[in-house]
Amino acid sequence: MRFLSTFLPLLVFGVQTVLAGAKLPKVVPPQLPSNDSFYKPKGDWQKSKPGDILDSREVNISSLLPYARSKAKGFQLLYRTRDVHGNPDATVTTIIVPKFANYNRVLSVQNAYDSADVNCGPSYGLQWLASGFGASWNKLNLAFLMNFLQAGPIMNIPDYEGSNAAFTVGPQSGYQTLDSIRAVFNSAKFTNVNPDAKVIMFGYSGGAFATEWATEKKAEYAKDLPIIGAVMGAPPPNVTSTYLNADGSDMAELNVAALLGVMNAYPEINATLRANLTDDAEQQRRFFFPLHKCGGGECSQLGTPLAGSNVGDFFKNGSFFLEKYSETLKEIGVMGQNLTPKSYPGYPLFIFNGDKDELTYPIDDTIQLVKDWRKKAFTRVCHLTLEGLDHTTALRGLPYAWSWINKRFLAVEHGLGLVNLCKFIGADPDDGWPRPPKDGNPDDGKPDEGEPDEGEPDEGEPDEGEPDGREPDEDEPDNGEHEDDLIIAESEMDEAETMRPLHDL
Ligand SMILES: *[C@@H]1O[C@H](CO)[C@@H](O)[C@H](O)[C@H]1NC(C)=O
Ligand SMILES: *[C@@H]1O[C@H](CO)[C@@H](O)[C@H](O)[C@H]1NC(C)=O
Ligand SMILES: *[C@@H]1O[C@H](CO)[C@@H](O)[C@H](O)[C@H]1NC(C)=O
Ligand SMILES: *[C@@H]1O[C@H](CO)[C@@H](O)[C@H](O)[C@H]1NC(C)=O
Ligand SMILES: *[C@@H]1O[C@H](CO)[C@@H](O)[C@H](O)[C@H]1NC(C)=O
Ligand SMILES: *[C@@H]1O[C@H](CO)[C@@H](O)[C@H](O)[C@H]1NC(C)=O
Repeated sequence: MRFLSTFLPLLVFGVQTVLAGAKLPKVVPPQLPSNDSFYKPKGDWQKSKPGDILDSREVNISSLLPYARSKAKGFQLLYRTRDVHGNPDATVTTIIVPKFANYNRVLSVQNAYDSADVNCGPSYGLQWLASGFGASWNKLNLAFLMNFLQAGPIMNIPDYEGSNAAFTVGPQSGYQTLDSIRAVFNSAKFTNVNPDAKVIMFGYSGGAFATEWATEKKAEYAKDLPIIGAVMGAPPPNVTSTYLNADGSDMAELNVAALLGVMNAYPEINATLRANLTDDAEQQRRFFFPLHKCGGGECSQLGTPLAGSNVGDFFKNGSFFLEKYSETLKEIGVMGQNLTPKSYPGYPLFIFNGDKDELTYPIDDTIQLVKDWRKKAFTRVCHLTLEGLDHTTALRGLPYAWSWINKRFLAVEHGLGLVNLCKFIGADPDDGWPRPPKDGNPDDGKPDEGEPDEGEPDEGEPDEGEPDGREPDEDEPDNGEHEDDLIIAESEMDEAETMRPLHDL
């Protein structure tokens, strides 16, 4: 929540100021998702496959500039996905095709909408003339990628919490993110995305929660998706720790939203928590406020803000649910615990965080997560710890993320997959990059280091062609050979980009 006060506050201020005095054109503002029939799948939709497009439409996307309509093209897809229990679900993703789009690249952006209200989803907030908290907040999140909005990749921005706004339910966020990427490829006919395009995922904070869970589920659920990397800024590795950190702090509203998000997904938890609330009607009203924060609820209606509250005070028996539902909270909210060699996603990660992150504290949890990816799932992770920065100020790591994303796209496009990108951004590649299993489908539980190198180009040899159609990047530790090639490729790209006129988004 505090991003608002530190990152581009002018954006939000500007929107409100201009709206106050502007002459509004006669255009109908978008409907809230809770009242928009586009969000309700029709017919026999449950029989469709994950990622199938159930409905689509063009939408006007809001510019990040106050009150302007973006020159980018906007599409929305209602697509088939699943909930945490495996039941069919349908949710919406927003696709933004920039004015000078690169149709070979898709950036899947998991906005941190952090809400138990479907009306807070980016599909609403990013539409032109959307209003309220969901609009300013989602635009702010998209501004984290300002660097890519002019001439960059196709953006895919899913409502990954699903039709029940299951905030904090990791696996559901993961499945729904992956299915949104399937839907993007199913939209090629009208979005013009290249069927051979490559995808990088990005998320910060609550967005990184979805990005991480999508990466955990990739091998099992969506092995064939052409994802080539994922960036996670300030990911919360353990939701119970995050709860304890946020409780009583100015981020305490996040805890209420998280509980409501879990209640949205688990009927039994919903019933018990509701039954265990204190009888104080005013307290109950405040507790449920985040359920309709973006659907007409004005923050002023809340009265005393939820910031600073101890969430246990809303219940007769304090924070009893942490213990009672610890198994569920672990299952849906602890990253890295279930990684095995079979979880190897087939792409490298870039994780950055501040060492003073008050929300994901202790920092050891993030370090452990990085270790788990490397050791249990043989995944290359560049890890950048930003000294002295907290959960919000770690946004200063974004330029590293932009750089990593650009270099990663370029490296794959130029067949230079072996480049160790950690070196370029000063990230720690730790104890040498583990060598991932050769077929990307390890079943012996061991990395195949030391095994005979049949059919593989030796280290030091140019890696022409792919011996067996694997992605070019994940087979060998970097030998530094392609760094110069990447620098040349990047300088050529930069020149091409700077020749383009600036168009706002
Ligand atoms: C809900 O949708 C209907 C039909 O589109 C519209 O008439 C009505 O004003 C909407 N209500 C709200 C609260 O947006
Ligand atoms: C977008 O806005 C323009 C200008 O008001 C309007 O003409 C057009 O129909 C809108 N497009 C969509 C898809 O709503
Ligand atoms: C998650 O955090 C809680 C609270 O700090 C802790 O009790 C629990 O053991 C952690 N879970 C795992 C799997 O590390
Ligand atoms: C939670 O309880 C409320 C009130 O009984 C109900 O309207 C809602 O559908 C319930 N949600 C779930 C997921 O059970
Ligand atoms: C909490 O709810 C459960 C289920 O409704 C009930 O059995 C229990 O007595 C409640 N506890 C308190 C302290 O109200
Ligand atoms: C309240 O919580 C305590 C410990 O967390 C537990 O021992 C007790 O049974 C709970 N009481 C009720 C009524 O749920």
